[in-house]
Amino acid sequence: MASNKKMLVLPGDGIGPEVMTEVRRVIDWMDKRRAVGFDLEEGLVGGCAIDAHGIPITDETMERAQDVDCVLLGAVGGPKWDNLDFNIKPERGLLRLRKEMDLFANLRPAMCFDALVDASTLKPELVSGLDIMIVRELTAGSYFGEPRGIFDLPDGQREGVNTQRYTTNEIIRVAEVAFDLAQKRNGKICSVEKANVMESGVLWREEVQKLYDENSQYDDLELSHMYADNCSMQLVRAPKQFDVIVTDNLFGDMLSDTAAMLTGSLGMLPSASLGAIDETGRRKALYEPVHGSAPDITGQGLANPLATLLSFSMALRYSFGLAEDADLIDKAVENVLAGGIRTADIMQPGMAKVSTEVMGETLVHELDKLAA
Ligand code: IPM
Ligand code: MG
Repeated sequence: MASNKKMLVLPGDGIGPEVMTEVRRVIDWMDKRRAVGFDLEEGLVGGCAIDAHGIPITDETMERAQDVDCVLLGAVGGPKWDNLDFNIKPERGLLRLRKEMDLFANLRPAMCFDALVDASTLKPELVSGLDIMIVRELTAGSYFGEPRGIFDLPDGQREGVNTQRYTTNEIIRVAEVAFDLAQKRNGKICSVEKANVMESGVLWREEVQKLYDENSQYDDLELSHMYADNCSMQLVRAPKQFDVIVTDNLFGDMLSDTAAMLTGSLGMLPSASLGAIDETGRRKALYEPVHGSAPDITGQGLANPLATLLSFSMALRYSFGLAEDADLIDKAVENVLAGGIRTADIMQPGMAKVSTEVMGETLVHELDKLAA
């Protein structure tokens, strides 16, 4: 079936291209079997763009990213580009996409599949049934605040400066996304900052509380506040106390890595980065796994394609309104794991260890079965 679902695929560096190949397999399957067509374009971001063009993302790729319905990204970075000037490092390509597309709400769901309960480093009873959504602010805070830089001091020392900065609107718009999500989930929202030491944290707490107090449509929600250090501790002590966590850019970066490990592996965690809804009802979006480019295992068939596949499933859900197709992919992942198929990162005794490619093929077979 013809369709105008436009998606820009940016595989990136390291394991990015190999996991994306497996996701493309599933996209092809959807084309054939589900009559859901995509107009796919491919482009460069990160180190591969530096090699080709001298910069981590070109203006032309940026324009395409702004124009499509959504972007699907693999991973960026690697030791080859570690010593480059800070402003042309691979990571800057990703940060430019987030900033210029104004993708302020980063959704990072940490779900523990039943089959992976024993793959977590935490006790099974702590993680079994775990289903948390971390909403991370993505376009402000210390990642982008000015002034920033490395400066020479009169006494010959140097000073590194970053600025944590948040405005009312930046806090409110991400809190609204988190509140809306909580209403579709279990209605519990925990706002996380360091109001005990940071003014930006005090403002964050006040604005989130005000949004809650002044809007009766949120009466069904239960709002709590927590300091970020305590939250990191609570995530490993009793993670199931959380439903939706909303937090700033830097704390969200750290807490989502912690949450990822609860699910067994960083290789399992997808993410969606969303912009505001425009007049036509459309919102800019980028989908990417939470894991990085993993240069240590690149090209060895060891990478887990599931985080990127689950990111594609989030694209179906949030950008294309294809909840049924997203459910189908999520179910296929669950069944494949339940069947004992594992990539190296989630391998456990008695299970079948497979390569990245075989994981992709197995998923397509499972999809065939589910759709039969
Ligand atoms: C993430 C990553 C990025 C970040 C890096 C690659 C710039 O760690 O998406 O969590 O710090 O935001
Ligand atoms: Mg991170």
